[in-house]
Amino acid sequence: MTLFRFIKIAFFLSSLWLIQPATAQNYRPSAGIDARVDALLSRMTLDEKIGQLTLYTTDWGSTGPTIREGYKNDIRSGACGNLFNSHTTEFVRELQKVAVEETRLKIPLLFGFDVIHGYKTIFPIPLGEAASWDLEAIEKSARVAATEATAAGLNWTYAPMVDIGRDPRWGRVMEGGGEDTWLGCRIAEARVRGIQGKKLGDPDAMLACVKHFAGYGAPIAGRDYNTVDMSERYFREYYLPPYEAAVRAGAATVMTSFNDYDGVPATGNKFLLDQILRKEWGFEGFVVTDYTSINEMVNHGVVANDKEAGELSLNAGVDMDMQGAVYQRFLKQSMQEGKVTQAQIDEGVRRVLRLKFELGLFEDPYKYCNAAREKATLFSPENRAAARDVARKSIVLLKNEKQALPLKKGQKIALIGPLAENKSELIGNWNGAGNANDCVSLREGLAGNELLFAKGCDLVGEDKTGFAEALRLAAQSDVVVVVVGEGAMMSGEAAARADLGLPGVQEDLVLELVKTGKPVVVVLMNGRPLAIPRIAESATAILETWWLGTEAGNAIADVLYGVYNPSGKLPMTFPRSVGQVPIFYNERNTGRPYDPNSKWTSKYIDSPNSPQWPFGFGLSYTTFSYKELKASPELTVLRGTPTLERARIQVSVQVTNTGKVAGEEVVQLYIRDLVGSVTRPVKELKGFKKILLQPGETRELKFTLTEKDLSFYRRDMTFGTEPGEYEIMVGGDSEALTKVKVKL
Ligand code: BGC
Repeated sequence: MTLFRFIKIAFFLSSLWLIQPATAQNYRPSAGIDARVDALLSRMTLDEKIGQLTLYTTDWGSTGPTIREGYKNDIRSGACGNLFNSHTTEFVRELQKVAVEETRLKIPLLFGFDVIHGYKTIFPIPLGEAASWDLEAIEKSARVAATEATAAGLNWTYAPMVDIGRDPRWGRVMEGGGEDTWLGCRIAEARVRGIQGKKLGDPDAMLACVKHFAGYGAPIAGRDYNTVDMSERYFREYYLPPYEAAVRAGAATVMTSFNDYDGVPATGNKFLLDQILRKEWGFEGFVVTDYTSINEMVNHGVVANDKEAGELSLNAGVDMDMQGAVYQRFLKQSMQEGKVTQAQIDEGVRRVLRLKFELGLFEDPYKYCNAAREKATLFSPENRAAARDVARKSIVLLKNEKQALPLKKGQKIALIGPLAENKSELIGNWNGAGNANDCVSLREGLAGNELLFAKGCDLVGEDKTGFAEALRLAAQSDVVVVVVGEGAMMSGEAAARADLGLPGVQEDLVLELVKTGKPVVVVLMNGRPLAIPRIAESATAILETWWLGTEAGNAIADVLYGVYNPSGKLPMTFPRSVGQVPIFYNERNTGRPYDPNSKWTSKYIDSPNSPQWPFGFGLSYTTFSYKELKASPELTVLRGTPTLERARIQVSVQVTNTGKVAGEEVVQLYIRDLVGSVTRPVKELKGFKKILLQPGETRELKFTLTEKDLSFYRRDMTFGTEPGEYEIMVGGDSEALTKVKVKL
């Protein structure tokens, strides 16, 4: 056998090994559950079965929670088996009582809610947490959220959102883990672990729901709900892995997305739901639609009416209809007409009931309804301390000239800006049951220091009458801290922006303050990368703080004063202008890579290609140096012949804290496959370690690149490695990298 043929066989074997669907971590029904499910199923009428596939919302009026009378009757008749947006032990108990005392079969309800970054104690928005590059902190945040939510009656959250976001115009980038697939996978796993806890059935564990499957983060032009279209290679390589990672970490449920992919809406897309999710990844939980996304397939134009939409989605693999009432209204008729089968409906019901058994709801339907536990758990001092810790870690220092930061004790601060004492925006979008008044504003966080305060202007609008007072106070100060950004509702769902600058006259305010000659520290609060080149150029220091939640003011004050040395790194590229968008670090080289001196290369005539701040970027109050980067391949020797099967590359590097204070660095590892059977990205993140180094301390770090890290979808769409040369790059962001080459 020639070496070439041998390597080909090794590839084939390795790809078989890699596509094995089931791993130990996927959700698998516990022993004995299926017998209980089948016994119950055999007693159910068709209407009751369809009820288990139906999910309705309750409302929250000014006087408290309410439920539409029709829905309450649907619970009573068994026509609605699941609710969302109902929380607090009292309200959940009231509704669960209807299900278990007034229905024929006493099947308990699931209670779902968007617990996205905290329930009562609000943590940073997910994009902010991603900037911490601290997987333990991210898991802890999800754990605290689940502990609070389950204490308030809930057993199912619509999180994590793992949609890759490369286009900051899309408002929902705030809910995700940023632009990178590898980092996105690790964050997805951490969040699933945090949400579902040690095991489903524990009183503080809830069902995770991975969303939005699939590709929702890539709408054309960044406009929410818009069409998604890309090659399958690209889709599998960049967009699908985080959903898979979440499923393989045990996520019990999956939510479809509003968009179409390759011409088929995700909610009716058999390729996504059956082929990829169930067959390739071995998913055994249930699939729920996004809000009325079954019905919206009529607008997409792939079905003529709601009834056909229901048939398309059940046949594609959707189990539960969120809010569309399509299954409830039409599934029976569709079955009678032979458009869907009894077996398909039964299978969906099985998947839903299994998880109700798994949670232990049949043993105790009120297990999440203990008012004393609710009182003791929500907004506890420990939870707030955890929120402050994660908030500090999420802050990214983007610029720091003349050592403006940390602030020095005794400095007189002019605290300016529409967000400086604001509380209402700090909890961000998707803020659970969080209360804006519970938030610590930056003005409160800085209390105790000498502060002069002026708002300067509003978040939006053209009014500049407040500038004069702001400038007067700036002139009297030693340093200006100006707090500007977006409103919380300017990102999130249905909040795409065509302009990525600061709204209103905020930029003018900052530029006027700069003209005073005082050091100007800009504190940004926002839910997406912004394009602010003039501020980037002229401010003395810039701190990206996203929406940090309940403890925002304390966390920012900790960083401003150097009580905490900032360690966050951008999880998304910050562009210079909207025209550069979509922009992301792991692009391909093209046949005419950027050359500033040659017109005929891939570039703009009016802007550099480079971003304002690259992916992975973030400063510290100290500095780090990298040296002694080494990479050595390890080929497995099979019957005397070296093969790539199970190939690894061992990487080591020495990192030194070259500054005067202790600090944490996120040491990032990137690779580039220099010649492939298809074009490969110029760099791809494949690992990182966050380490704390004392001044002068050096540490050697080791990474192992596994076969999976080196694999990609080859020309023939098999997933695996190819022999050849790789560039191995290590550094503190995606541009400042030291490199070595290694041959496999
Ligand atoms: C959003 C989902 C969310 C659902 C339920 C939809 O509009 O797209 O992310 O989970 O509503 O609130």
